[in-house]
Amino acid sequence: MTEKPIAIAADHAGYELKTLLGKELEAAGFTVLDLGTYGPESVDYPDFGVALAQVIELGKADRGVLVCGTGIGISIAANRNPSVRAALCHDETTARLAREHNDANVLALGARTTGVDVAKACLETFLKTDFPGGERHERRVGKLG
Ligand code: RB5
Repeated sequence: MTEKPIAIAADHAGYELKTLLGKELEAAGFTVLDLGTYGPESVDYPDFGVALAQVIELGKADRGVLVCGTGIGISIAANRNPSVRAALCHDETTARLAREHNDANVLALGARTTGVDVAKACLETFLKTDFPGGERHERRVGKLG
């Protein structure tokens, strides 16, 4: 696991779940870099996906968590930065495979599509699962750019 902060960001639809997951991370001993949004007022999800991607690109965090209503828009925004491999996960299996097969560095979740307990389980699995490497997976991840 990383010693750097875990960066988290969300739009208004993901604000509550992002805040809750941030508290979970702190309770588990992680330092959290919360990039907002900080309230329920309507905002634009690309702004937060891009902000988190920049933090990853600059090396201020190795791992990130993004939340919007579905996790789709905010992950698309983050994935436009080549430093980011954001994986939209819906269960522990996708969270594990995102690490094992894709070496994903950002977990994306949908607050309107994924329940709180499942989201917590996704986060725990995502953070504890290492990328095993190996020629096959490294070759494929390398082709992602
Ligand atoms: C906001 O209403 C919603 O569109 C956004 O949170 C997200 O689901 C977009 O992909």
